[in-house]
Amino acid sequence: MRFEERTFTLKDGRTCVLCPTYPEYAADMIEYLKITAAETPFLLRYPDEVNYTLEGEKEILGHLLENETGVMMMALVDGKVAGNCSINGMGNKRRVLHRCGLAIALKKEFWNLGIGTAMMQYLEELARQIGYEQIELEVVEGNDTAKRLYEKCGFVETGKHLRALKYDDGTYRDEYIMIKVL
Ligand SMILES: CC(C)(COP(=O)(O)OP(=O)(O)OC[C@H]1O[C@@H](n2cnc3c(N)ncnc32)[C@H](O)[C@@H]1OP(=O)(O)O)[C@@H](O)C(=O)NCCC(=O)NCCS
Repeated sequence: MRFEERTFTLKDGRTCVLCPTYPEYAADMIEYLKITAAETPFLLRYPDEVNYTLEGEKEILGHLLENETGVMMMALVDGKVAGNCSINGMGNKRRVLHRCGLAIALKKEFWNLGIGTAMMQYLEELARQIGYEQIELEVVEGNDTAKRLYEKCGFVETGKHLRALKYDDGTYRDEYIMIKVL
């Protein structure tokens, strides 16, 4: 979905732009996905599982831009992708049209500067505009920064997926389910 750009000042004084993830940022986005996958154990993918082609990623971003029930937002700092945050519906059946799911990740060098909070606030506005009545997400146990951010934004924990992630070393982690009713 297309939406208006929004600019704000980071805690370190730099300027950050929140805008749609335009297809011309496809290469930057692939790099961002690889970097974030390597920097944190709290995302779904291992870096070797980020295998989008440039053309494929451009096409995906082009479709997302025209999708009226989903938002793909990027945060740009000094013209480079610092992070990405998205909301997507749960499908086209009438009984789930009120629900959307949220995902967010930033490159480590941009953590704790206020970008996560700004993106969540803007996405919530856009979710309301689309007509969603609740936003849902999952957060891996131990991801205290993300959990703190979600609680600050009004999300409440409603349950757990036991052993949701299994790591290459054979260990498991649970995931908390969190929901905000709009
Ligand atoms: C989670 C994430 C998106 C947060 O974004 P961010 O821009 O760093 O968040 P903000 O700077 O807006 O806010 C972070 C808050 O967490 C707090 N925080 C930081 N580290 C913390 C910790 N270890 N424990 C608890 N709170 C912490 C900060 O103080 C801040 O709170 P405040 O605004 O009240 O001061 C970002 O850290 C990230 O991309 N992490 C890796 C990917 C990831 O985990 N994604 C979420 C998957 S569910």
